[in-house]
Order: sequence, then C-alpha cells, then structure tokens
Amino acid sequence: MQKAMSGELGSRRFLVRPPEPAPEMLLSLPSSSIYLGKTLLLHVPFFWNPKKLVNPHICICGITGSGKSYLIKSFITRARLIFGARALILDWAGEYSEWVRLAGGKVVSFGKDGLNLLDLGGSTAHARTRQVVESLEMLTDLQSFPKQRRLTEDAIEQAFLSMGLKLHQPMRRKKRQPTLEQVHAILKKNSSRDPEAAEAARRIRTLLLSSGKSFCSTTIGMNDLLSGLVCVDLHSLPTESLRSLAGLSILQFVKEKMRNEPYRPEGGVSLFVVVDEAWKIAADERSDVISIVREGRKYGFGIIVASQNPTDVHKSIFSNAGTTFLFRLTLSSEREYVRSSLTYSDYYEEISHGMGVGTALVHLEMAQPLRCPRNFILEKVDGEPLMRLARIRGGRMDVEIEKDELGRRLLSLGLSDRKSSEILSEFERSSFSLEAERFSSLLESAGATRASVLSFLRELGASEKDLLGVYSASRPGRHQGGEAMLRLKKNNLRKNKSKGGGERA
Ligand SMILES: Nc1ncnc2c1ncn2[C@@H]1O[C@H](COP(=O)(O)OP(=O)(O)OP(=O)(O)O)[C@@H](O)[C@H]1O
Ligand SMILES: [Mg+2]
Repeated sequence: MQKAMSGELGSRRFLVRPPEPAPEMLLSLPSSSIYLGKTLLLHVPFFWNPKKLVNPHICICGITGSGKSYLIKSFITRARLIFGARALILDWAGEYSEWVRLAGGKVVSFGKDGLNLLDLGGSTAHARTRQVVESLEMLTDLQSFPKQRRLTEDAIEQAFLSMGLKLHQPMRRKKRQPTLEQVHAILKKNSSRDPEAAEAARRIRTLLLSSGKSFCSTTIGMNDLLSGLVCVDLHSLPTESLRSLAGLSILQFVKEKMRNEPYRPEGGVSLFVVVDEAWKIAADERSDVISIVREGRKYGFGIIVASQNPTDVHKSIFSNAGTTFLFRLTLSSEREYVRSSLTYSDYYEEISHGMGVGTALVHLEMAQPLRCPRNFILEKVDGEPLMRLARIRGGRMDVEIEKDELGRRLLSLGLSDRKSSEILSEFERSSFSLEAERFSSLLESAGATRASVLSFLRELGASEKDLLGVYSASRPGRHQGGEAMLRLKKNNLRKNKSKGGGERA
C-alpha cells in the first residue's frame, strides 16, 4: 500500500510489449515485399522488404529437415513474381533441379556441362590466376606447400602468356584460353629439375583425372547463368572438393559480372544467388560468398546462404546479413556460435530448442535503426505448395507427371476423390515412383478401363513400343492388356485417318 501511495508501482510498466519488432518493421505492401508467415506471439504478418533492411542478404541455419530449402523455394518463387528477380542456385545435393524444371527454369548439370577454370570471363589473366590458386588453397592443403603454390601460380601465368594473353589487361578480342591441361604440361616439363614441380603437376593431374573434362572446356553459357531461374546441379561431380571448386569458380564469375552492373541507389534486388549446404565455401574469408555479401547490395545482388551447421558459415556472413532465419538447432555449441554474432535473449534461446519444422527465429537488421526488438519467432514459414513429379516406369518406359496434375487427371478418368487420393498416397509411399503395372492395376481396381489407362500413359509420352514392353508379357491378363492396347491403337489410327492426321509415335 505504501508503495502504491508513493507512486512507485505506477512508474512500473506492468504491460510491456512482447519481444517482437514493431508492426511497421514487419508490415509492407504485398506488391513490393514477400510474405513469409506470421509472428508467434502477436500474429503479425511478416513481409520481407529489402528496402527496409540494411541489405538483401539472407542467412539460414537449421538441422536437416527443419525447413531451409522449403523456405528458399517459396521465397524464390515469390521473389520472381514480385520483384521479377533472377535466381542462380548452386545445388550441391541435387535437391533443387526437379523443382527448378517444374518452375520453368533451366538446369545446368556440371559433369555433363563444364567450365574451363582458366576462362577469363571478363577478368584479367593475373586476377584469374590468383583466384584459381586461392580456390585450390581453400579446398586442398596447397597452402602448406608454398613452393608448390608458387610454381602452380607461375605455370598458370605462363599458360596464359603462351596463348598471347596479357596478364594485366582484360581480353579485348575473343582468343582461345588455356586450360589446366596446359598448366599440367608446363609443370611436368619442369619436374625433372624440381621435385616440387613434379608434386604440383601430380596435384593438377589428380584434379584432371577426377573431374573428367568438367574443368577444361566451357560449355556452360556463363551469361545464361544470370538470366531467369537457373540451377547449377553440382551433385554429379564425384567429390565435395570438386563440387566446391565448381561452386567457387561460378561465384568468381558472378562477382565479376556483379561489378560490371550499374549501381542501384534505389535498392531492390535483381538477382539472388543461392548457396545451400556449401559448407566448404561459406566458411572461408577469401570466398566470393563474402565478397558478394559485402558488395552485393549496391548492385542489387542478394545472396542466400543456408547450412545445417552454422559454424560452417563465416561470422562475417552472420553479422552482415540483413536477415537471418534460425530453424531448430540441437547443439548448444552451434547456438552459441550464432548468438555470438547476433544478439538475442534467453527467451529466444529457450524457445529455439523445441521449434518444429518450418518455425524459425528471425533476426532483422533494419536500414533505419529503430529502438525496438529485432528478433521474433516466425510461427511457420507460410510457403508455396511444392510441386513434385510422379514417375511411372516399366521396361523402357519412364514417364513423369506433376503430382497435382496427376490428381486432376485421375479425376478426369472418372475416379472418385477417395480413390484418386489413395493412388496419390501410394506414390508418396514409394518416393513418387511406381511401376506401370502396379499403376494400371491400381487404376483398374478403382474402376478405370485398361484402354483408358493406356491412353493416359500415351498422353504422358509413352510410345507403343514402351507400352508393349510393359503389358505384353505372358500372363493372360497381360495379353488382354496388350490386345486392348493394340485395339485402341487401331481405333486411334482410324480416327486420325478420318481427321486427315498421321499416326502418333
Ligand atoms: N513451412 C513448411 N510448411 C510445410 N512443410 C514444410 C515446411 N518446411 C518444411 N516442410 C517440409 O519438411 C520437409 C523438410 O524440409 P526441407 O527439405 O526444407 O528441410 P531442410 O532444412 O532443407 O533439410 P536438409 O538440410 O536435409 O536439406 C520437406 O518435405 C518440406 O516440404
Ligand atoms: Mg535442404
């Protein structure tokens, strides 16, 4: 009572704001920002707006299955629609290629396509030499062998000079550029005099042998990489080091391109570069991931770095990224690493242990400093339904259809809602791939005729030969299937002739 009378209680704030940013930090017009979900406590919608942030870079961490790639795919889908942004995805594990194809983008497969590491791509021979040697240092133990490092550097420069290229001038007219094969030959020539040169030559040879021709000739249209939605699928390269070398080389090219872009004082983002699970290339100070984080904003380039383990992401990325999403992290050492770069309270530390899939602690660095919390929990990333391809295989037949489209087609074959979702569940249980025989028996037991199943598979692109291979084995039912198919084919032929059309393949 005495405290109340003295006014001491009155000066205390009983109703304090929950620890969430002010709504003006979170809300923006949907036409100029990306909606990602609601805050956990006050259910305020969060619209990601690059103009309100110090920069458009995004860092994402969380254990496997916590929702990192789902966030990236949803984010990129909306960024393309809202900002008309381009996106280049460096795909280490091959987990984006199917989605990119379905989203109408382009997939470049490293291994099938290649990139000459000594391709100048707008840079000078001297700068490219340094970049290649630095990449080799980051990915191998070359740094511990200074003489080999120097010999390799000299051999690369000699290879450039031997093609008539100047070390410090960008190439004016298109000229042939050397490859690592020439660098190997130069080191090999010197190896009889110097055992260190022999060792350096051995390194390059190992690289050439393990990568096939992937690093010797450029078949990837480098300018095409920065147009629209592009995924560079690195997973067919045989080792993590080779994948990282390819990733680093592409980033070097992106950096050169970035520096030639006009300065964008108005902010906004024209290109997102996605580096998901790039544990070797986001941890090193010399990596171009860090150059893009430092310089990207002024050219409208945003980088999205994702990792299961935050200690694989260099601290300067955490402390410089405008937005950080921390999905569930189980190890306290990892949480401590993040917390030493970002400041957040024990309250968040406690909640972040038990977050479910899609829930994230978000940290924002605003362009205009505001005196209010910069962290909040995003209840669940409210993303795009992900497209999945369902595959139907058998014999030489291998056809694909997007899952939702398959659902619609099953209904149009006359199947009930329940039967068609049972068939879709069967696809889900078998990693979205079913044998054609199993698929047709499911359809037939749901009421479809064999003829309609065959016609459906034909529409997906199965040829008569494929279908015969699947259905014309010795079982009586199969014979019937083969006959039904041939009957149907004859009918089609008749129909086509009467329309004046030819036979389908
Ligand atoms: N916000 C969400 N809403 C609905 N489903 C989600 C959400 N986030 C993730 N998922 C689903 O959870 C699964 C795992 O998500 P995702 O692939 O994004 O995990 P990840 O963190 O990238 O894992 P990894 O590190 O192994 O690549 C996916 O099937 C995805 O569709
Ligand atoms: Mg992932």
